[in-house]
Amino acid sequence: MSETPTFTPAAGRFASTKLYDRGVALLTRERRWRSALLDLLDPKAGETILDVGCGTGSLALLIKEREPQANVIGLDPDAQALAIAREKAAVAGVAIDWKNGFANDAEACGPVDKVVSSLVFHQVPIEGKRAGLAAMFAAATTGGKVFIADYAQQTSWIMRQAFRFIQLIDGRADTQPNADGFLETELGKLCGRKVSADYRLDTPTGTISIFVVPRID
Ligand SMILES: C[S@@+](CC[C@H](N)C(=O)[O-])C[C@H]1O[C@@H](n2cnc3c(N)ncnc32)[C@H](O)[C@@H]1O
Repeated sequence: MSETPTFTPAAGRFASTKLYDRGVALLTRERRWRSALLDLLDPKAGETILDVGCGTGSLALLIKEREPQANVIGLDPDAQALAIAREKAAVAGVAIDWKNGFANDAEACGPVDKVVSSLVFHQVPIEGKRAGLAAMFAAATTGGKVFIADYAQQTSWIMRQAFRFIQLIDGRADTQPNADGFLETELGKLCGRKVSADYRLDTPTGTISIFVVPRID
């Protein structure tokens, strides 16, 4: 019998998902990096954008706010996070297609113009990181783009110490590969060239990097 896949919930191993939105605002300089991610994502009318690991829906809602004519799909394995996302979308009066599933289910949501994920892969086991990133590329149309915002290699000793808080709440096993440069290496393999961050922000919980990688066949 195959085991049911598990996941680390949005606010980590010890806190309620209901506290996630407040936590991320307090601990990540959220407005700064989300606004940079939206600028890079540059949503356009008629585009379909898939948000992998959408959690409580904050980014998906911001995409709709920036471009109401974009079609947005939010994918997450956590029913509780999706319930919060649905409620927020109802209050904002926006239509988003919420789906229950893991990053490695992304291809089934495609083809889409842009695939984005924020603060997800640092809390995913290494095989899930590999399969999830590959599925995101597979979900993008040829010429489409993949956007990853997450804790990756840290920019300084101080940022490396700050990231230890995230390692405490999300567990060392899943977070350590990100600090060791897993995202840079794996994204490089997937697009066939050296990849470095398009944007970096030092935060109270470590450096958050944004990578923009086109799908090239
Ligand atoms: C820290 S939260 C980030 C939520 C949202 N993307 C944001 O920017 O606020 C991480 C989310 O990833 C989801 N997650 C965990 N493992 C996952 C996986 N293997 N595939 C997709 N999502 C996953 C969790 O359920 C959680 O909602």
